[in-house]
Amino acid sequence: MKGTSKAQPVAELPFTGKVALVTGAASGLGRATALAFGRAGACVVVADTAIDGGHATAAMIVESGGKALFVRSDIARSGDVAALIEKTINYYGRLDFAVNNAGVDEEAAPLADGEEEQYDRIMGANVKGVWLCMKLQLRQMLKQGGGAIVNVSSVSGLVGAPNRAIYAASKHAVVGLTRSAAAEYAREGIRINALCPGAVKTPHMARAAEEGQLEAPAPMGRFAEAAEVANAALWLCSEQASYVNGHELVVDGGFTAV
Ligand SMILES: NC(=O)c1ccc[n+]([C@@H]2O[C@H](COP(=O)([O-])OP(=O)(O)OC[C@H]3O[C@@H](n4cnc5c(N)ncnc54)[C@H](O)[C@@H]3O)[C@@H](O)[C@H]2O)c1
Repeated sequence: MKGTSKAQPVAELPFTGKVALVTGAASGLGRATALAFGRAGACVVVADTAIDGGHATAAMIVESGGKALFVRSDIARSGDVAALIEKTINYYGRLDFAVNNAGVDEEAAPLADGEEEQYDRIMGANVKGVWLCMKLQLRQMLKQGGGAIVNVSSVSGLVGAPNRAIYAASKHAVVGLTRSAAAEYAREGIRINALCPGAVKTPHMARAAEEGQLEAPAPMGRFAEAAEVANAALWLCSEQASYVNGHELVVDGGFTAV
């Protein structure tokens, strides 16, 4: 009937009222994950050392109608991580989900040629950084009575990576941190999982492929889009994954299956 039609209620987004923290969100996989959380209705804390990229990610979320805060932080420094969690709570009042994604890769080289400085840099970001972040995220989640953490490992956290042994060791360590903490906090309403992507189409990967230095991985014969991996991170945080804990979710197009 004319004049009586009412607007349909807008369906609530799955993460409305939730707060998600994504480290390394100035670029690549972290940015795609932060944008996906924003689209799903969460308030997003974008953490990174890269100031321009971090602000850009937060601006993208806000422009598409979401809520976001950029906090410059180096996850390998305990003072920065403490300030990151404090700002998150001061600004949004809680922390429901954390995706510990920030990490660094290494130039390919045989193990015997590795440098101590490179070892410290990779372990500092990929292992100490994830440990520091989890530690303070868990303290907040314990106060709230629940939460979900996703640590970004890699297929190199499950199998060896010739000529990238330090990176592979660091990503195996992320799996060890994840499994141990998952068991420790399972009765506190906190689920902790690892995500193990194969080769993701980041600008760096795409350039290497264009220059013929890298072949698209088998068996699918293509790289993952960052959004395809981000979807898995959000699923691990969601209620759909309520009994998934201490798991390594492989998103590699079948690379480690053969
Ligand atoms: N790209 C891939 O193919 C692939 C595959 C498997 C796993 N991963 C993992 O996914 C994660 C994201 O990778 P990406 O390809 O999107 O990389 P990327 O280089 O595009 O993004 C990583 C981000 O982390 C930030 N970062 C690095 N060290 C930091 C620190 N100490 N503190 C705060 N921020 C820091 C960087 O500034 C950057 O913005 C990494 O942990 C990586 O090991 C990537």
